[in-house]
Amino acid sequence: MDRLKGLILSGGKGTRLRPITFTSAKQLVPVANRPVLFYGIEAMARAGIEEIGIIIAPETGEEIREAAGDGSQFGVRITYIVQDEPAGLAHAVLTAEPFLGTDPFVMYLGDNLLQGGIADLVEAFRAGEPDALILLTPVPDPEHYGVAELEDGRVVRLQEKPPEPKTDLALVGVYMFTAQIHDAARAIEPSARGELEITDAIQWLVDQGRRVEPHVVQGWWKDTGRLEDMLEANRLVLDTIERRVDGELIDATVDGRVVVEAGAVLERATVRGPAIIGAGARITDAYIGPYSAIGPDCVVERAEVEHAILLEKSSVRDLDARMESSLLGREVRIGRSLGQPRAYRFLVGDRSEIGIA
Ligand code: DAU
Repeated sequence: MDRLKGLILSGGKGTRLRPITFTSAKQLVPVANRPVLFYGIEAMARAGIEEIGIIIAPETGEEIREAAGDGSQFGVRITYIVQDEPAGLAHAVLTAEPFLGTDPFVMYLGDNLLQGGIADLVEAFRAGEPDALILLTPVPDPEHYGVAELEDGRVVRLQEKPPEPKTDLALVGVYMFTAQIHDAARAIEPSARGELEITDAIQWLVDQGRRVEPHVVQGWWKDTGRLEDMLEANRLVLDTIERRVDGELIDATVDGRVVVEAGAVLERATVRGPAIIGAGARITDAYIGPYSAIGPDCVVERAEVEHAILLEKSSVRDLDARMESSLLGREVRIGRSLGQPRAYRFLVGDRSEIGIA
């Protein structure tokens, strides 16, 4: 098989992650303080892929370019490909055709996280030389995904988000294709939601009698496209980190697998892992509990935070009760307002959620 290229899809709108994605691309939302997109790039690099095309949208593309750069930080070469409108995953493939040429490629959805990487799958693809290889995993809510039906271990039918799924096998957002997928993408019509679906393109390959090989994923997989999945993805990744304390500890206790980045200062604080404290963060007279990712330059003072994600430059101060299962965007400030009347005071953006017990 020829050399394998990589294609990462980081266009689209990210409407389901609002308000976090009002101001930024959903593929840059951090998991354990790193943009989710970086995990995909690294998975490709580790599988020996050197040439990666990244599909970007006109609105959020610049930010993605700035974050991932030319790819040298990952040991790969990145080419950015602008998709004018989010017309579907198969449309994205067609947009990338000049970059991909006739080479086989791995396609990775930029908001997906796959434990264990893709090196084994790339190996299976190279060895078996099928026309396409898809990844599947059982999920409790298949109606939210592409769904596959298998017969004797072969793919017979694929449907995008069927209201009444016939199986619980969801299509994971990592695919391996030969150049035939371009013909498939050209042959299909837009779906009910107006998109050229990659699921339909793969079904076209099946209908043409091409060999589409299914692989059931063994480890966990997360589509971080929805808010509730972010905390879960954060938890899963934090579970794999190793202890590293580069920041400054002043009368502070750091238990278990905790990363404290250089430049962070913990004073009279307790951090219980797994957790990560970003560069420049200040944790004072505070407790940070398991499964917390505190972003760079955040402040937590006289407060307790657990199972939470704080994006950069946010602050939490003077809380009576522990803050948990929370996701704060950038530069969010939570604190106590002094003076009378004693009341809650909020300045909250569109589509935010606040829970008070
Ligand atoms: O996560 C797995 C699921 O991903 C599969 O089970 C589905 O079969 C597949 O269609 C896809 O469904 P989603 O509805 O979750 O796809 P979403 O619109 O979230 O787009 C996935 C990624 O691709 C995301 O990073 C945005 C990017 N994208 C999306 C569209 C529609 C593009 O780059 N261009 C596009 O035109």
